[in-house]
Amino acid sequence: MNKEVLISTAEKMMSKPKGILAMDESSPTCAKRFAALDIPDSEDNRRRYRELIVTTPNLSNYISGAILFDETFHQKMSSGEYFREYLKENDILPGIKVDTGAKDFSNHIDEKITEGLDGLRDRLINYMSLGAKFCKWRAVITISSNIPSEACILSNCNSLARYASLCQENNLVPIVEPEVLINGSHSIEDCDSITRKTLKCLFEQLDLMNIFLPGTILKPSMVISGDKNSSRADFHKVATMTIDCLKSVCPKDLGGIAFLSGGQSDEEATQHLSLMNKEYTDLPWRVTFSYARAIQQSALNTWRGDDANTSRAQDILSNRAKLCSEASIGN
Ligand code: 13P
Repeated sequence: MNKEVLISTAEKMMSKPKGILAMDESSPTCAKRFAALDIPDSEDNRRRYRELIVTTPNLSNYISGAILFDETFHQKMSSGEYFREYLKENDILPGIKVDTGAKDFSNHIDEKITEGLDGLRDRLINYMSLGAKFCKWRAVITISSNIPSEACILSNCNSLARYASLCQENNLVPIVEPEVLINGSHSIEDCDSITRKTLKCLFEQLDLMNIFLPGTILKPSMVISGDKNSSRADFHKVATMTIDCLKSVCPKDLGGIAFLSGGQSDEEATQHLSLMNKEYTDLPWRVTFSYARAIQQSALNTWRGDDANTSRAQDILSNRAKLCSEASIGN
């Protein structure tokens, strides 16, 4: 582990006024997003869509790093250049999602465990040799009656820590993403208590594995009411409770925090981030975004697979990225 390399990458990822673009939807997830808009699911359409994203003018003013799916990482653009090389030339760090997905957790109904540790060391060595600078691993925690179980939280956090350890061995900054899902009718208080429990467990596991925190980025969900809750907390309460939660559980030397949007609308995800940065100016770490849907969805809705819409879709994407960037500095 080279701590200087890890710190330098983490600092670039967290540089102001930027955030991280998650464009690492797996092929099945991409197929779902395409199907909703009648875009045929094919490798070429995924490539065309990803090319639209990365060639958006001025993207690097707002985006420090892009998380790619394995297919995109090894894919060439229409110019013949690899996506990963194009990003690097355009001052955007290429990152890679390395988990192999959240699978049913044996003997635990409605819970998931993220897989992907087998063979991970060799995959990381290969990604690093091809220019990857950071990685992502997403765990999902579901809130419902009697869940999450201790077993689900502990198993997922243990896997996140083992993944982080392998990343750092190879000088790749790990993004650790324990997503407490928004789906459900739970209150913001329930989300707060589960998020605290999960993050506390995560930092215990990271500590157990001697993870170098300044070279680690946390990608949490916000503390927020369930999407089916009938009296959802307002913007201000979400921002306040999220920061209170993070302040109480995240060590001060963590490399940075970059939220997922997790099914919030574009507007909600941007407002929440903006309020956090406006109202809390003395946080020990940078607090920014690592959004997928809250940056991409409206552009995808406009593109719909038609080249005639590319430039309009890029304008929309650029505007969303700009608003998120502004929010990351409290504007
Ligand atoms: P959303 O912003 O759409 O939640 O996606 C972020 C992400 O990377 C999920 O793993």
